[in-house]
Amino acid sequence: MAPRPILEYPDPRLRERSLPVARFGADLAHLIEDLIATLHATPGIGLSAPQIGTLQRVLVTDHSGDKTAPEVYVNPLILERSAIGIIEESCLSVPGITGNVFRATRLRVQAQDATGTAFERDLDGMPAVCLQHEIDHLDGKLFIDRLMPWRRLMIRLAAARRAPSPSA
Ligand code: NI
Repeated sequence: MAPRPILEYPDPRLRERSLPVARFGADLAHLIEDLIATLHATPGIGLSAPQIGTLQRVLVTDHSGDKTAPEVYVNPLILERSAIGIIEESCLSVPGITGNVFRATRLRVQAQDATGTAFERDLDGMPAVCLQHEIDHLDGKLFIDRLMPWRRLMIRLAAARRAPSPSA
């Protein structure tokens, strides 16, 4: 159980669609431990498996504020959403950028735990917003995709300037 490096935009692995988890064994338990350790090494409230380079539909959140209440969602699926709001988001994979995104602020989610047991949960407020952000990662989407077009363009240009050029 150790923190792993977090992939950063524009890493192409962040654009892949993650695969459903079919085997609930030691490998999954290990992945979940790494995800929680990695999340708890940051000030973030949610982290998805593709962000540490494992393309499986697993995410963790912790809304306790003191890293004491990690929640695990395997193969999450949103059943209902309501109460759309505008929320300011950021992302551990897009450092230094914040932006306002339309999201449901209430939802019902179905998922499995580390052993494969299915559960349903109602989320309200930031936990609901965070879950949608993390599920986006499982689908290869980033919150910056949901910003206004001119902001997306500025972010793409800034990333292109940071990328090492072939002649340098
Ligand atoms: Ni993120």
